[in-house]
Amino acid sequence: MDQQLQLNDFLEKYSQGGPLELRVAAAIDAIAAASVSLSQKISKGALDGITGEATKGQERNADGDVQKDLDVYADRVLREHLQRLPLAAFASEEEVNLEIRDPGASICIAIDPLDGSSNIEANMSVGTIFSIVRTPAEVSAAFSLAGTNQLAAGFVVYGPQTSLVLTTGDGVDIYTLDDSDNLYKRTRSRVTIPASTSEYAINSSNYRHWEVPVRTYIDQCLAGSDGPHEKNFNMRWIGSLVAEAYRILTRGGIFLYPGDARDGYGEGRLRLVYEAHPMSFIMEQAGGGASTGRERVLDIAPRSLHQRIPLIMGSVDEVRYIEELHADFGARDGMSAPLFAKRGLFRV
Ligand code: F6P
Repeated sequence: MDQQLQLNDFLEKYSQGGPLELRVAAAIDAIAAASVSLSQKISKGALDGITGEATKGQERNADGDVQKDLDVYADRVLREHLQRLPLAAFASEEEVNLEIRDPGASICIAIDPLDGSSNIEANMSVGTIFSIVRTPAEVSAAFSLAGTNQLAAGFVVYGPQTSLVLTTGDGVDIYTLDDSDNLYKRTRSRVTIPASTSEYAINSSNYRHWEVPVRTYIDQCLAGSDGPHEKNFNMRWIGSLVAEAYRILTRGGIFLYPGDARDGYGEGRLRLVYEAHPMSFIMEQAGGGASTGRERVLDIAPRSLHQRIPLIMGSVDEVRYIEELHADFGARDGMSAPLFAKRGLFRV
C-alpha cells in the first residue's frame, strides 16, 4: 500500500497554490465530508430507512429518471455541506436549472449526487461524481464551456470500501475511507491505466440499436482469439458508472455507452456536465482516453446542462481503435464498414 497521506494533508498543501486553489480545496473537503455521512447511511441501508425505492409520487429528475429515496437524500446532504461555501453556481442532476448563488465567487460545481441508483436495492456499488470549474465572465455560462476548463474532478464509490478518486489536473490519486476515524487516506497515487486491455463493459442488451462501428468492435471482442485481436476478452457490466470507472483505473479496460437508435438515446445515456466531463478528465489524467467515438469528450462544450453524450473511455489504445472504426465507417458512408474496417473481418 501507498504511504498513508490523508486527503486533508493533500488539500492543505494544494490550497497553498493561491486563492483559487484554496476555494477548490474547500469544495473538495466539503464534498468529502458529505460523502462520509452518505457512506454511513448507505452501509446501513434499510436499517436506516433507505429502501432503494422510488420517491413517493414517482418524481423524475431533470433527466427523466425515476428518483429513488437515496437520490433525494444524497442531493440534500451534498447541498447542506456545500451551502457554507462561496460558489458562483451550482448544478445537480436532481435539479432542472443551474442555481446561481454568489456570481462574484471564483468557482462553480456540478454534481451527480448518486450515480447508479438502480443498484441501491441490489446492494451494489453506487457513487457521487463532481466537477469543479472556474467561474466564467458570465456566470450563467458556467457549464457551457469545454471540459478542458475543469479545475478538479472526482468521484466517490460506495462499495465494499468507500473510495474517493481525485484529480486536480496533476495525475489521479485514490483515497480510501478509514471508518475507524472517518478520514480519507491515500491508498494509490499517480494511478496509470494500462494502455491495452482485454476487458470490456457495455450494456449488450442494446446491441440491435447500436451503430455499425460499435457492433463491429463488440463482434471482434466476442470473436476472441479467433478474431482480429487474437485474444480472448472478458466482459463486465455493473450498471454503475463509478464502479466501471474505478475498475478501469485499477486494472484497465474499456467502457462504452454509445448513442443508439432507441428513442431519446441518440446521444447515449450519460450526461456530459456531471458524468462524462469529470470521468474524461480523470481518465486522461490517468493516461487513458475518453471519446464519443468521433471526438474527444473534453473538447465538447455542453449545449445544455443535462445534455447526454456517447462515452467511450478507458485504456487508450482501445479508445483510439474504436475511434478508427468510427472514422472508417464515416469515410465509407456506412457501406460495409463492419467487413472492411481496419482490423475488420477482411482486413486482419
Ligand atoms: O447514469 C446512470 C447510470 O446508472 C450509470 O451509472 C450507468 O453506467 C448507466 O446508467 C446504466 O445504464 P443501463 O440502465 O443501460 O444499464
